[in-house]
Amino acid sequence: MQRPSSVEVVTWLNLDLRGEHDAIVHYLQHAWVLSPWGPTIMAIARDEMRHLKWLAHTIVRLGGTPDLTPPPIRRDADPLAQDEAAEAVAIEQYRRHRADIPDPAIQSLLDRIVIDEEDHLRQFRALREKAGAVPLAPSSELDPEARAFQPSLTQLMGCEYAAVLSALHRAFQRLPAPRTGIDWEDQAVEEMHHLSWAAETLARHGLTPEWPEPAPGDSRDEAQRWEMLARAAHAWDPEAAALAHRAARREALEAHPPRRDRSATVGSLATGRDWVEEEVRP
Ligand SMILES: [Fe+2]
Ligand SMILES: [Fe+2]
Ligand SMILES: [Fe+2]
Repeated sequence: MQRPSSVEVVTWLNLDLRGEHDAIVHYLQHAWVLSPWGPTIMAIARDEMRHLKWLAHTIVRLGGTPDLTPPPIRRDADPLAQDEAAEAVAIEQYRRHRADIPDPAIQSLLDRIVIDEEDHLRQFRALREKAGAVPLAPSSELDPEARAFQPSLTQLMGCEYAAVLSALHRAFQRLPAPRTGIDWEDQAVEEMHHLSWAAETLARHGLTPEWPEPAPGDSRDEAQRWEMLARAAHAWDPEAAALAHRAARREALEAHPPRRDRSATVGSLATGRDWVEEEVRP
């Protein structure tokens, strides 16, 4: 077989990376609402985040750009069955790419990922045997007051998702860490926490958090939004208010001095070009 070009290899690895992105967003959504299986699904989602990172670093090493285009969101009728099927598809695709890419380092990486995916397949299978078909429906203890907070929490989720993607792009392009010394990879994890806090608040009150479209914003907007939420949620859910206040303080710290303009970045996730241009501008 003819040796594939590095452009072909990058295309295949980006296909794998998009599969990981798709798995992460759907597994998180399922973990938030499928109690008591949430912690197991969350642990699997964390494995997928590591896979995405390893693939992205490999793509960059080959001179490519990791494709972080947000995946289309499915509303799965039987989430665990969907997750099990996704693992089987991933294993098949990784094996195919492993056979087609003659680079020993990439082969080792794909072998390593397949070990995890086989275990995920086993875990989803075991969950389905225990759980049967569990729909993503709101629980019977729906808190009507939570509905009042749903729009602002959902909007925050969109902003935080955009912030995650923005930080990941910077991490993968090895752009210099901000002045605080917190690197972009840790910043992506931080933004992921903010996203989860909003989603978990909704889920705790019986609402299904819908995975958001990434929404442009900046830290100053987010600090204000979180602070408003902290005040409004004070009597309703003290735990949510405390988390919102914590998020507001962290966002406010990040906003001084302002160092990102996400409105310029969200539209070009597939290429990352705007991020790079933004960073090199004097
Ligand atoms: Fe994975
Ligand atoms: Fe997996
Ligand atoms: Fe944030």
